[in-house]
Amino acid sequence: METLKAIMSRRSVRKFKSMPVPENAVKIILEAAMNAPSAGDGRPWHFVVLDDRSKLDKIADKVDGGNEMFKNAPLAILILGDEKKQGFPGFYPQDCSCACQNIYLAAHDLGLGSVWIALWSVEPRIKGLREVIEIPEEMIPFAIFPIGYSDEELPSEYRYDPELVHFNKW
Ligand SMILES: Cc1cc2nc3c(=O)[nH]c(=O)nc-3n(C[C@H](O)[C@H](O)[C@H](O)COP(=O)(O)O)c2cc1C
Repeated sequence: METLKAIMSRRSVRKFKSMPVPENAVKIILEAAMNAPSAGDGRPWHFVVLDDRSKLDKIADKVDGGNEMFKNAPLAILILGDEKKQGFPGFYPQDCSCACQNIYLAAHDLGLGSVWIALWSVEPRIKGLREVIEIPEEMIPFAIFPIGYSDEELPSEYRYDPELVHFNKW
């Protein structure tokens, strides 16, 4: 798939078929995530791959509201920020965001669906997640992506708005 086509057709998928995600697809998604740019090439991230049904169900129940999609997702990838590894102080959220966008796009390229579930700065979600998965205290849960074959049809959206573009002056 061409990069621009992938960017313009990606949507957030919240309903999944039960078919498992192939192991090599998980590897490709993680490769894409770790190939993201990062300030000072710090690569301040870690990933937890989850395919344990009971843990995915607990995430749906414990990680705040609106996360029922983990009940039908066969897999999830959690990304955590590592402040100690960031190239410059305060940059890890931007670095992790780049990795997150690569996860979205790589999954889409492979014919899989996913949705970015925010954790960073959402304290009840972080607390709930830490109750399900033991994570070292210094690692910061940033976002979690349920991933699977899509069970919903979502059309591409064209969102370009010329009113948001300013040339040479505001
Ligand atoms: C930083 C960020 C946080 C998001 N958090 C959530 C979330 O917690 N729950 C959710 O269902 N979708 C979440 N989304 C997905 C957005 O709702 C979605 O991207 C937006 O509605 C546009 O739809 P699209 O992704 O299909 O283009 C998040 C997206 C981003 C970029």
